[in-house]
Amino acid sequence: MSGRLIVLSNRIPNDGPPAGGLVVALDELLTGRGGLWIGANDTPTDTPSHSLTPIPGGSGYDKAVFDITPAEYDDYYLGYANAVLWPLCHRRTDLLSLERRFAAAYAAVNARVARMIAAVVQPDDLIWVHDYHFLPVAAELRGLGVKARIGLFLHIPFPTLPDLAALPERSDFYTWLSSFDVVGLQTEADVARCFEAFRSHPAGELWFDGRVKFASRVFAVRSFPIGIDGPGFAALASRPLDTDPLPLATGTRLVLGVDRLDYSKGIPHRMRGFGTWLGNRAETSPRATLLQITPPSRSAVAAYQTITGELEALTGHLNGKHGEIDWTPIRLIERNIARETLAPLYRRADLALVTPLADGMNLVAKEFVAAQEEADPGVLILSRSAGAAEQMTDALIVNPYDADEVAETIERGLTMPLAERQERHRGLMRVVRDTDVFDWGARYIDVLSRTERQMGLRSETRSA
Ligand code: UDP
Ligand code: G6P
Repeated sequence: MSGRLIVLSNRIPNDGPPAGGLVVALDELLTGRGGLWIGANDTPTDTPSHSLTPIPGGSGYDKAVFDITPAEYDDYYLGYANAVLWPLCHRRTDLLSLERRFAAAYAAVNARVARMIAAVVQPDDLIWVHDYHFLPVAAELRGLGVKARIGLFLHIPFPTLPDLAALPERSDFYTWLSSFDVVGLQTEADVARCFEAFRSHPAGELWFDGRVKFASRVFAVRSFPIGIDGPGFAALASRPLDTDPLPLATGTRLVLGVDRLDYSKGIPHRMRGFGTWLGNRAETSPRATLLQITPPSRSAVAAYQTITGELEALTGHLNGKHGEIDWTPIRLIERNIARETLAPLYRRADLALVTPLADGMNLVAKEFVAAQEEADPGVLILSRSAGAAEQMTDALIVNPYDADEVAETIERGLTMPLAERQERHRGLMRVVRDTDVFDWGARYIDVLSRTERQMGLRSETRSA
């Protein structure tokens, strides 16, 4: 039997009930199993503590935060995590912001977090690290002599080999990853990119059983596609409401887009596709309104600042060109909408446009499917570049860059016969049901906790 589960993620719900797919799942997992969840303190401080600070809020498990300084917030979180690793993994090396101080702050925060974990971890504990904020933490922990099993789950795409070449710390990148026991990725395509990266390195070796040997370490690389709590989300979506969440003129269809305001989500491309559909609409085509919900995200990072203006300009232009007195084709909301409001909107929508240019999985796609009424389901248009497209093959799959294809697919979705909508929805629901977030957590922990037995060759020393 393994020891305690220690979860590390940059985001942690600080007060109130947890919200959002991942935090709900981690909360459920830790509530059932007990353990410790560590995340970043929301409020940077000039006098960071050198140990973890317990915070209230976990039911049946402990929560603790590590402090960062305002400069570390800029250089570790906004800088290396979100202006280097995020664009690198989302195929936007043109947006890389390579400042030496970003890499230094990233290394410093990871080293400090590792020391804090080393102070509380026991050899039998399982350490489950989430996402790109902490790639070096396992190497740091090994350097401190920590023998516990350490797993990584990367929620975002694994970078392509040519993109990886643009990272000044690319040789460290291999050591970072190989210091984990399990590297969990979203899709088989991510696993293939990871294998390609290690195969191309002189010190890397792929084993037939899916493990990778790098220098003196061996680790497993597996895909664990993340899911949602389907029944939970469906229940939220189907609560009886006093009023229509979005009254539109009779006959006007609702098309929904829900994405953080991030360049990886392809929102301007989607609007141009919708604009092409508006321009090509036949007399007989239905009217539709695109409701685009885009909460601001990482707005202090330069690459995020231009998108708002672009979206506002496109919305104004397309509404001016195609709007009618009784019809506004695009509604843009630049605010976070609570899940309790979002869920019935998903159910009400005739079509969801989930068209990222690159995305680890995309939970909105799964939530939209879970929220539909079985008897009269809406249609999912899904980008081939979302991780979800690997599983959700019954969606209408599109190339998000191709405005004509997006426009044709919108028309197809809005006019799809009921029987086809039902059949596609049944297939999509199977995916949502069969790979839910609780199975995802249980599967990962199972693989990580069995890793000791699986690993024929282990070394606790840091590889060169
Ligand atoms: N979300 C939300 N309110 C909003 C917009 C999004 O609660 O206004 C939620 C959405 O329901 C989903 C998550 O944020 O659970 C977004 O996850 P996804 O995997 O689609 O994208 P990410 O933001 O993680 O890149
Ligand atoms: C993606 C990342 C998460 C991150 C989330 C919100 O889902 O994979 O690690 O927490 O975006 O971004 P933020 O920077 O606000 O935490």
